[in-house]
Amino acid sequence: MKLQSFLRCSRRDCGRTYELHDRALACASCGDLLEVVVDPGESNPSELKRVWRERRTSWDERDASGVWRFRELLPTYGAEIVTMGEGNVPLVRGSKTAQWAGVLDLRFKHLGWNPTGSFKDLGMTAGMTEAKFTGATTVACASTGNTAAALAAYAAKGGMNARVYLPAGQASANKLAQALDFGAEVVQISGSFDRALDEMLQGTDRNVYFLNSINPFRIEGQKTAMFELMEQCGWQPPDYLVVPGGNLGNSSAFGKAFVELKRFGLIDNVPKMVIVQAEGANPLARMWRSGRTELEAVAMPETVATAIRIGNPRSWRKALEAVRFTGGTVTDVTDEEIGEAKAMIGRDGIGCEPASATTLAGIRKLQQSGEIDKDAKIVAVLTGHVLKDTEYIIKRHERLYAQAV
Ligand code: F0G
Repeated sequence: MKLQSFLRCSRRDCGRTYELHDRALACASCGDLLEVVVDPGESNPSELKRVWRERRTSWDERDASGVWRFRELLPTYGAEIVTMGEGNVPLVRGSKTAQWAGVLDLRFKHLGWNPTGSFKDLGMTAGMTEAKFTGATTVACASTGNTAAALAAYAAKGGMNARVYLPAGQASANKLAQALDFGAEVVQISGSFDRALDEMLQGTDRNVYFLNSINPFRIEGQKTAMFELMEQCGWQPPDYLVVPGGNLGNSSAFGKAFVELKRFGLIDNVPKMVIVQAEGANPLARMWRSGRTELEAVAMPETVATAIRIGNPRSWRKALEAVRFTGGTVTDVTDEEIGEAKAMIGRDGIGCEPASATTLAGIRKLQQSGEIDKDAKIVAVLTGHVLKDTEYIIKRHERLYAQAV
């Protein structure tokens, strides 16, 4: 019997609990973020692995989703789920990229190959299902673009209104176009993503359901990417898992996945998680290097990787805990390094948006500094599709075009 899930404050020295469908985003006692606590009940690890594998051959809507296939470790819904068959993305080997980074065993988990072209769909199916379950009619998020696109699509699918707060002129045109196409109301906020998020959270309309990654249900969906990855690796984790860091919801989600996989006996050891930020938006990397215990926000974040142009990441505590739990590290890379890495991922025929390329640039940097061995097994998470920011690509190649004419 699977036990009933509940919400708990993620701050270990607080730990206050809440009813699962409470709709709270922060702890009423200490103000920190909440997390969903799940328990698979009596299912043993080999039974879970067998059931999850068998579902891959089923056409049932829940089984066909790469998120809900793992539902023993998710909150349970008797009601309708809002899904578009997200997840189930391949693990692709990069050969030119591996050579460029100076490593021998590099694979990409391409979460950009999801319905709206980013990993946000994994969180959105879970968050939107919860929104619908609680009777929400309007959902909202602040976004650098991808969350907005995913929210707009899943709200449309679930029959809800969508409102997205974007930093004016800073989200890529492709992402804005998606949000518009899916019928979202777009609110442009002057300033950064951080300001857009503040603005949204201060708009106190309690009838609106907030779906940023501080929403614990989003984290539940996103964590399943690691269940799927471990399954693809035959439940033998790689040495390193490398992820881009923006608001740090995704690294928190992956950290939660590893805690649960280990606790429930599905894996014996965990990969070292490496978070890579862009140098102009690197509060966690700065904190990591300085040994400080509190995050100092970057006031004016600036990077070509607009998806992660974030100066005050809300999930930093959870992400830091995940890095520590896995024995990983945090680093940062320059815009030029991101550009070169992105071009190499393209040359492997894989492609991604700039924020995702921080991973490859980070691997190269850590290999060159001797922190990563050249024969380490590495999985880099690509978070967004190559078509998410076409203006960036055209601009980067403009010089070549000019020569050709
Ligand atoms: N990669 C891409 C392509 C993203 O869109 C984001 C975040 C990240 C990495 C970083 O993930 O915030 O969980 O650390 N995009 C958010 C958005 C902020 O609004 O689309 P994170």
